[in-house]
Amino acid sequence: MERKLFINNNYNSFKKTISVDGDKSISIRALLLGSQAFGKTNIKNLLLSEDIISSINCLKKLGVKIILNKKDCSIYGKGLNGFEFKKKIVLNAGNSGTFARLILGLLVKSPYYIKLIGDKSLSKRDFERVILPLQQMGANFKINSKKTLPLQIIGSTFTNPIHYLENKGSAQCKSTVMLAALNSPGETVIKAKKSRDHTENIFKHLGIPIIVKKNKNNDEIKIKGQKFFKSFKYEVPSDPSSCAFFIVLTLLSKNCKLKIKNVNINQSRIGYIKILNKMGAKIKIKNIRTKYGEKQGNIFVKSQPNLKKINCPSSLNSNLIDEFLIMFLVAAKAKGVSSFTNLSELNKKESPRLKLGSKLLNRLGIKNKLTKDSIKIFGNPSIDLKKSIHIKNYFKDHRIFMTSVIAACTFGGRWIIDDVTSYKSSFPSFLNIIKKLGYKFKVSK
Ligand code: S3P
Repeated sequence: MERKLFINNNYNSFKKTISVDGDKSISIRALLLGSQAFGKTNIKNLLLSEDIISSINCLKKLGVKIILNKKDCSIYGKGLNGFEFKKKIVLNAGNSGTFARLILGLLVKSPYYIKLIGDKSLSKRDFERVILPLQQMGANFKINSKKTLPLQIIGSTFTNPIHYLENKGSAQCKSTVMLAALNSPGETVIKAKKSRDHTENIFKHLGIPIIVKKNKNNDEIKIKGQKFFKSFKYEVPSDPSSCAFFIVLTLLSKNCKLKIKNVNINQSRIGYIKILNKMGAKIKIKNIRTKYGEKQGNIFVKSQPNLKKINCPSSLNSNLIDEFLIMFLVAAKAKGVSSFTNLSELNKKESPRLKLGSKLLNRLGIKNKLTKDSIKIFGNPSIDLKKSIHIKNYFKDHRIFMTSVIAACTFGGRWIIDDVTSYKSSFPSFLNIIKKLGYKFKVSK
């Protein structure tokens, strides 16, 4: 039976300093690039979540030696296209959409069919978005008509460079093509709607030749296929998407103050901080420095009882794509009617998050108007629930679970939240930090 979390009327005050786990996007990219570098790569502060463990297991199946010592990871890369391809390899990406999509970019030269599978949630997600450009480059696929996992990929000795237009604002699609381009002769040109740019940053940091021209609405990226790049040392900063839960917990609670150390503050990831500050939060970032090609800083936040509504500009959507659920909670406690638009991508995540976000607000008694790709939220700053709420989390979505816990700690009520283990796919320290901040909860055996 699924384990459940019980929280009852759990308001609390705290003044603390915390660290959250390593960045998921960067951990996956560092592992993938370490597997293609020549020699021993060392990664410190690797995120040790289930998504990363599935990624490591898949790379091991492709013949890459990886040694983990707590958060310290050594990868013995054999160079570009240095995987040991064998017949009948099955890669299980678990819940990780990022790993499942990006690894395909490194399989475009596989001489045998490689099967890619995932858990129930990943098996519902669209893979056509990465198959189309990779087919153009020369890879072949066996896949069902819905274009979902399981799939099989077989590469080609002669992959082509392409001109690729990425128009969803998906960093996963952009990065998959970037990795395939690195492994193919000739120059690939990508015109991509703005999205997180960690792959560009790590390429630059490793000295892999890449030209990035930043335009107002899109970026033009040019990559020439390489023969070789050297192993490297890297330290992963903390994940801003994990921080978001504790920033919101602090803002929506009374008399709280929080410092979060060494957070990745890449602009393409902290759209939610911009929006929260527009709503009246006074979040500060101090001690800003650049390390390993990424900006980091310490984040300071205090409780803010008078938040106001927001019309969230959709041009920022990809900069807060993983934070919308938690932002819906903030809008639920803000004064006025907030609106979030152009959100069709949100229903294509680990669960249909736009629909489920609206359902969660309904459970809280917050009026909201949902369309296919937008939501209006009618905030109620004085809300204080007395009722019982049971969140079933059928999709086992880690962000639904964590958002529900933050709601339980800030809206009152008696909560039962299903599927306690889901948060471990992205943020294994989540419940320990909740405890450290003084909240009480029980988990069923
Ligand atoms: C990610 C990109 C985003 C995000 C996901 C991680 C990445 O997905 O939702 O959690 O690491 O590139 P899309 O690029 O598909 O929007």
